[in-house]
Amino acid sequence: MVEKSGGKVGWPVNNVRPKWAPFAWRRAFLAFLWVAAVAWLLVWQRNGVVVRSAEPRLRPVAFFLTEFGGVGDGVTLNTEAFERAVRAIAEFGGGQLNVPRGRWLTAPFNLTSHMTLFLAAHAVILAAQDEEYWPLMPPLPSYGDGREHPGPRYSSLIYGQNLSDVVITGHNGTINGQGQIWWTKFFQKLLHHTRGPLVQILWSSDIVISNITLLDSPFWTFHPYDCKNVTVKNVTILAPGFNAPNTDGIDPDSCEDMLIEDCYISVGDDAIAVKSGWDHFGIAYGKPSRNIVIRNLVVRSNVSSGISIGSEMSGGVSNILVENILVWESRRGMRIKTAPGRGGYVSQITFRNIMFKDVGVGIVIKTDYNQHPKSGYDPTILPTLSDVTFTNVRGHGVLVPVRIQGSEEIPVTNVTIQDMKVEVAFSYVNRPRFQCSYAQGRVLGPVFPSPCENFDQYNELGQLVKQGSSMNVSDIDYEI
Ligand SMILES: *[C@@H]1O[C@H](CO)[C@@H](O)[C@H](O)[C@H]1NC(C)=O
Ligand SMILES: *[C@@H]1O[C@H](CO)[C@@H](O)[C@H](O)[C@H]1NC(C)=O
Ligand SMILES: *[C@@H]1O[C@H](CO)[C@@H](O)[C@H](O)[C@H]1NC(C)=O
Ligand SMILES: *[C@@H]1O[C@H](CO)[C@@H](O)[C@H](O)[C@H]1NC(C)=O
Ligand SMILES: *[C@@H]1O[C@H](CO)[C@@H](O)[C@H](O)[C@H]1NC(C)=O
Ligand SMILES: *[C@@H]1O[C@H](CO)[C@@H](O)[C@H](O)[C@H]1NC(C)=O
Ligand SMILES: *[C@@H]1O[C@H](CO)[C@@H](O)[C@H](O)[C@H]1NC(C)=O
Ligand SMILES: *[C@@H]1O[C@H](CO)[C@@H](O)[C@H](O)[C@H]1NC(C)=O
Ligand SMILES: *[C@@H]1O[C@H](CO)[C@@H](O)[C@H](O)[C@H]1NC(C)=O
Repeated sequence: MVEKSGGKVGWPVNNVRPKWAPFAWRRAFLAFLWVAAVAWLLVWQRNGVVVRSAEPRLRPVAFFLTEFGGVGDGVTLNTEAFERAVRAIAEFGGGQLNVPRGRWLTAPFNLTSHMTLFLAAHAVILAAQDEEYWPLMPPLPSYGDGREHPGPRYSSLIYGQNLSDVVITGHNGTINGQGQIWWTKFFQKLLHHTRGPLVQILWSSDIVISNITLLDSPFWTFHPYDCKNVTVKNVTILAPGFNAPNTDGIDPDSCEDMLIEDCYISVGDDAIAVKSGWDHFGIAYGKPSRNIVIRNLVVRSNVSSGISIGSEMSGGVSNILVENILVWESRRGMRIKTAPGRGGYVSQITFRNIMFKDVGVGIVIKTDYNQHPKSGYDPTILPTLSDVTFTNVRGHGVLVPVRIQGSEEIPVTNVTIQDMKVEVAFSYVNRPRFQCSYAQGRVLGPVFPSPCENFDQYNELGQLVKQGSSMNVSDIDYEI
């Protein structure tokens, strides 16, 4: 881009560019700037969150699904073709499976290590809708009760466990979960097991999902569980904004070293929800989600929130950086949720460069999200919430910009809000806009709307302007 505009604008007379041109200088200067910027980024790793981005690697062998009997007519079931292909790749010690243009109906199938699943342009993997085709698996250990029903849960459409080095990518092909039938059965209470996600990968490392579209998942869309080094880049995730229950976009769950960037997500539940297990099951499993970077996203969640942490967080969640996010037409913006019985902790969470457009409640911390496993819970096991920072928050058309609702048992401590300007939707101008209870923290620099009594206020120079009153003051208006 830079070269092109330089060429056109700088040398309008004819197309012959002198070799000595200021180009070389400009290019060298830009290269220098670029190197400097990268070096600066490397040095400036705030919060200790360090995650490397990964380009998918090339495989020594490639196969086409059609070589294994695949038929892309949208009607023929291709489960065996996928299974044969994956087996062949496993025997070769790795390889790429090309899914050509077409509609490839299939029941759930498993991935293998050192595998690339490549979806050509207009290639669609279509999920079989009859639940008889969906194998049952043991419940996830950190959920115990399955999540929606006790006992086994359905597999995901694309499933993997104990793998390393797996890539799902392409030229914007689609994995379509055809979730409508599952959502309807869920509402009609016709299902006896927890619904299956679209893509679920357990106990694995070095996973890349890029350049594809994930559509209409029956349940959570991408669910990496107890994985390490996972990258999601340039992916579109779509499900209806309404009546598509639990179609979360991406749910990093007890995962470490994860990067989610450059995605568009518009779904029927949280666009992203960082989790780490549920009550006593999650505490016993004891695997935190940490070292996760979530950046450069546009997200929409009509019935839930843009970026969530929890409510299942019993293994702990820390060292999360969320930056450069636009949340639009959503019920909630950035939300941390938990409840008595969870145990665990949420700490060292940084949000920066956040924009809300037409959002119900912008920043939410909630400590009474009382969904628990069927097998009961111990309400005296309390989570802790601390060290949460929001910097450079903007917005318009927001009903309530901030609601930080700690409780007597679960106070929220060390919250910092720096440089915020969120315009309240016209009809809500007389409502409390910056609500707090059992919350301790500070605001720095210009903050609009004016902060709750609980917080200390500092000016741009870092001087204390006003001491907060008791952190226990409560000013919560639950109507929205
Ligand atoms: C996929 O792998 C899981 C775990 O090893 C296994 O239980 C399941 O039967 C496999 N599914 C298929 C279709 O091979
Ligand atoms: C897969 O990994 C889990 C967790 O590390 C382990 O408990 C399980 O035994 C492994 N399964 C296989 C088949 O290696
Ligand atoms: C994102 O993916 C699309 C295809 O889905 C591709 O055309 C585009 O080049 C990708 N962008 C980047 C920056 O990789
Ligand atoms: C990829 O496909 C989805 C769904 O058809 C579309 O919304 C998106 O814009 C496409 N992305 C690119 C980069 O073409
Ligand atoms: C993370 O995974 C990517 C993709 O497989 C790989 O290239 C990279 O080396 C891995 N990083 C680490 C630190 O293992
Ligand atoms: C995405 O696609 C673009 C364009 O084909 C390619 O340059 C890029 O390497 C791909 N990125 C990933 C992470 O797959
Ligand atoms: C958003 O959700 C409401 C119900 O909460 C529903 O009436 C509306 O149709 C939904 N809008 C979209 C765009 O999904
Ligand atoms: C408050 O949180 C910030 C990071 O969010 C951290 O640097 C600081 O040490 C914490 N302060 C206390 C007193 O724990
Ligand atoms: C505020 O509530 C906490 C319990 O969350 C209690 O320990 C503390 O004494 C209370 N502080 C004041 C000033 O009332």
